[in-house]
Amino acid sequence: MSDSKQSVPFRNPGWAGNTGEFELTEEQVRGDDFVGTRPPDGGHPSVSTSYPYMKVEKEPDAPLFEGAYQQRFEKILSRYPDRQAALLPVLNLAEELRGHVSAGTMDEVAKLLDLPDAYVRGVVTFYTMYNRQSVGRHLIQVCTNVSCNLCGGDEVLAAFLEHTGTEPGEISEDGNFTVIEVECLAACGFPTAVQINSRYFENVTPQDVPPILERLKAEVAASSDSGS
Ligand code: FES
Repeated sequence: MSDSKQSVPFRNPGWAGNTGEFELTEEQVRGDDFVGTRPPDGGHPSVSTSYPYMKVEKEPDAPLFEGAYQQRFEKILSRYPDRQAALLPVLNLAEELRGHVSAGTMDEVAKLLDLPDAYVRGVVTFYTMYNRQSVGRHLIQVCTNVSCNLCGGDEVLAAFLEHTGTEPGEISEDGNFTVIEVECLAACGFPTAVQINSRYFENVTPQDVPPILERLKAEVAASSDSGS
């Protein structure tokens, strides 16, 4: 095991697919055809809570879409038979850029894809996974469904709220965290499951919460130091 893996103190040190049994590179697991560059945060890629091409800081007023985001938008369109079929990934892209999908963003996406505003709003409001309000840099989703609940999910949720000083759905004072309670994250074998941005933390206990939050803060600091 490499030094970078040994230095990760949590139970799920790999990106999805890396169980430690195989020496796969990140490119072999995820592919390398994304557009954009990895934020130079200096850490092992598996400890980041977001995919390498995602920015930590969101830009709620950023134009849809320019530069690398325009390339990614066009790439998404090229993968679908028509613009309507590309709606979900285009909404994901807008949320990645702006941090949430406001009513204004829904209307802009509708225009970009030549769809009725009401259709796009219906899709966004159907899926709970789209944030319709702004959230902190790290969106912490704690599962309190059956398996996780039996193993202390409520206590884990309470610990995240206590240590971030927030109520569910609020943004912490430093802008780093929003904690919400979610239904099953499909990681029932590893309760309590917590999804933070794009990454799963498994078998989380209340004692794990402070070090996890410290690590996330360090990730934000490293990202601002590197200017990404
Ligand atoms: S019950 Fe928590 S991940 Fe399924």
